[in-house]
Amino acid sequence: MLDQIDALRRQAETDLHAAGDSSALERFRVTYLARKGKIAELFDALRSVPADQRPLLGKHLNDLRTSVQALFDQRLAAAASHVQAAPALDLTLPGRRPPLGSRHPLTQVLDEIKAVFVSMGFGVADGPEIEDDYHNFGALNFPPDHPARDMQDTFFLNRTALLRTHTSPVQIRVMKEHAPPVRVIMPGKVYRNEAISARSYCLFHQVEGLHVDVGVTFSDLKGTLISFIKQFYGSATKYRFRPTFFPFTEPSADIYISCFVCGGKGCRLCKQIGWLEILGCGMVDPNVFKAVGYDSERYTGYAFGMGIERIALLRHGIDDIRLFYENDLRFLNQF
Ligand code: PHE
Repeated sequence: MLDQIDALRRQAETDLHAAGDSSALERFRVTYLARKGKIAELFDALRSVPADQRPLLGKHLNDLRTSVQALFDQRLAAAASHVQAAPALDLTLPGRRPPLGSRHPLTQVLDEIKAVFVSMGFGVADGPEIEDDYHNFGALNFPPDHPARDMQDTFFLNRTALLRTHTSPVQIRVMKEHAPPVRVIMPGKVYRNEAISARSYCLFHQVEGLHVDVGVTFSDLKGTLISFIKQFYGSATKYRFRPTFFPFTEPSADIYISCFVCGGKGCRLCKQIGWLEILGCGMVDPNVFKAVGYDSERYTGYAFGMGIERIALLRHGIDDIRLFYENDLRFLNQF
């Protein structure tokens, strides 16, 4: 009978190992562990063995039943946990899209401006945001007592260093580095000590332009900037030049374009005048050429400067300039 017990144990282990799914496990249970199963049959057979052998054989049979039952329970639990784990590994689920960034609305405007000027043969240059009085004012022909130097407008870092208030100092740096001819745009951040509100901020962006060569005239200035306006704002856009004053250009002009919301009739955006001011420009003042060591008898040139924020505000109908600097994804995701 001991041999029978051993044989059954081996057989049970083999069968259990082969049972691949829940119905095979159920068949195994009925065959071995049920009330009329093979183990129960051996317990029945125990009654017909001599009484003195019964305790030992009974103990072996009990061991057999306990260990087969334990193995079976293990297999059953493993099979059940496979069923539960399956949803976590559902390979048919569609993948999760990684969140995609977008270009900042100011970057988009700047890239378009760059593309227009690069197509007309301009290079791109930049300069430092921390400047000194000489580059930001002196070399640009600001008289020593000019109000723009006032603490009210300019952020001074110490007695000599300041945050540039416009991108025009990059003109000085480019001309000091390169002999004429030069034809570049110079985008960048500028800083002014303004009361912060929906309309103005202590930081904004400008694009400066400079073209210097023999024989550059006001016609070149007009032709280039009108071409920019037509390409950037649309060929139907009307424009107007108004005389103005900058220390570093003479003569100087502000350029206005017909309001693209009302077409010139007058609306809230253009404050009822039908025109929007978009940039300042002029012929480079000979005093600026003197400051950088260019021969002002031989060379002439024009310069211009425009703000980026205003263009983006107008284009998207945004009513608070501070939104550009907060990096709130609910705002940025819209562009
Ligand atoms: N720097 C001037 C400003 O900030 C703009 C400008 C640049 C005007 C170049 C003329 C020529 O207002």
